[in-house]
Amino acid sequence: MLATTHHPFYLKATQLTPPEERMPQADEWRRKVEAYRETLTAAEPDVLVMVGADHFHQFFADNYPAFLIGKQPIYDATFYNEEREFSIPPFLLQGHEELSGFLLQGLLDRGFDMAVSHELKLDHSIICPIITTRPDADLPVVPIYTNIFAPPLPSPKRFWQLGRAIREVIDAWPSDLTVAAVGSGHLSLELGGPRQFGETGPDPVFDRQAIEWLSKGNIEAILENVTFESMSGAGNATHGFMDLILMMGIAGPIEASYVDDLDLFHTREMYMTWTPEQDGAVLA
Ligand SMILES: [Fe+2]
Repeated sequence: MLATTHHPFYLKATQLTPPEERMPQADEWRRKVEAYRETLTAAEPDVLVMVGADHFHQFFADNYPAFLIGKQPIYDATFYNEEREFSIPPFLLQGHEELSGFLLQGLLDRGFDMAVSHELKLDHSIICPIITTRPDADLPVVPIYTNIFAPPLPSPKRFWQLGRAIREVIDAWPSDLTVAAVGSGHLSLELGGPRQFGETGPDPVFDRQAIEWLSKGNIEAILENVTFESMSGAGNATHGFMDLILMMGIAGPIEASYVDDLDLFHTREMYMTWTPEQDGAVLA
């Protein structure tokens, strides 16, 4: 299970910009991402369960599903504004309708009334981790979208519980295929507010604490300390941390096998992998 921050400028900053014009951290950023990619490659996955959130591209405050699963043969995975602003190339991802259907039913059976979409379009919350961890985009995906953007939001505990349920269903999937789960979210983050584009992320203390909690599998401390209000205090988009909690939920309360991070000029990137025991089809 991989949990990572996503940064839409990764490709542009590290590869598409001429070397002499790149930011000072570009080479280090690329090295860290490529090292992280190995943790997914080594698991030799056949299908990816991808966790992300729609950035008000197709869901809005009037009708934003708390939790949604896509069930399609193919997904268009780049919006035009992402091509224009971030230079993200167009992507089409194959879907895995059988696993989507199995997860949908399994989550309904476990008390999660998931919304389902047959016309979902993915955005950079999915395609950024594809670019960083599986740039060939050669595996079928099952996208799961969460509401981290349009309050009122589900609670951190609910994100954790959904992760646990997703894991149960994946483990119960009668298939020889290897499933990896890759999700992206945020540490402290400010979008369009007064704390954006500072010298660090908006709350470096929270960032250090969050990485410590996640890497130790310390869900008790997270549920004791992390609330909607506390995340708002760490930055107006810090609620994306809940997708990282969800990923730890898929892994379980275990220590991470790989932890790395990178201080970019206005945010902290995090790269974390949990490698549970090889039970059933889940290896990473
Ligand atoms: Fe984002």
